[in-house]
Amino acid sequence: MLMNPIEYWAMNNPLRSFCQRHYEAPRLKRLSKGRPDRVLEIGCGQGEGARIIYDLFGPQSYVGIDLDPRMIRRARRRAGALPNATFVEGDVSNLEFPDGSFDLVMDFGIVHHVPNWRDALAEVHRTLMAGGEFLFEDLSLETWERGIGVPFKRIADHPYDQMFRQDEFVNELESLGFEVETHESSPLSFYHFWGRAEKLA
Ligand SMILES: C[S@@+](CC[C@H](N)C(=O)[O-])C[C@H]1O[C@@H](n2cnc3c(N)ncnc32)[C@H](O)[C@@H]1O
Repeated sequence: MLMNPIEYWAMNNPLRSFCQRHYEAPRLKRLSKGRPDRVLEIGCGQGEGARIIYDLFGPQSYVGIDLDPRMIRRARRRAGALPNATFVEGDVSNLEFPDGSFDLVMDFGIVHHVPNWRDALAEVHRTLMAGGEFLFEDLSLETWERGIGVPFKRIADHPYDQMFRQDEFVNELESLGFEVETHESSPLSFYHFWGRAEKLA
């Protein structure tokens, strides 16, 4: 689901990049057990994730996909000359990559935008190789029930009727065949969760 103008603005400014680089990415990196060569970032947004992924993981290749062509154009401009990085318009719930194409899939806050999120997680599982990692940082129904999530719900458009609770997200990953570790936190009363899922052989 595309972002409304308010969230589009919020996702395309230096504060968003700062949080992603200094807060979200380092703790995902700490959870990671792999040295990924082939990385897919779902909902790559403005391209800051690509730069962070090259800095933290140094992959041999990277693909960023996003539903919004404006974000793809912006990511291409911002990511510059990262080696073997490509950005393509696409829907995470229907990926065009063959099975086992990646050894790391990154999710910086995108799956809560996807109405058919179970399909998205199934695609993450399909396109990862056995032993590959899915590192995720996301929001869930809990986010909009408390703290600053309550007023934020009024200004951001999300598929609330189809959204998951954190335990549903984790259960779905486990039923697909992932081993999952999750954490949650509410800094400034903003509930979110993150974790690592390893595709079992
Ligand atoms: C909250 S933004 C996060 C962007 C970026 N990952 C970041 O952390 O700044 C969610 C992104 O997911 C994209 N998106 C939404 N639904 C999608 C889908 N079905 N497939 C791929 N990307 C999607 C949006 O266009 C948007 O760029």
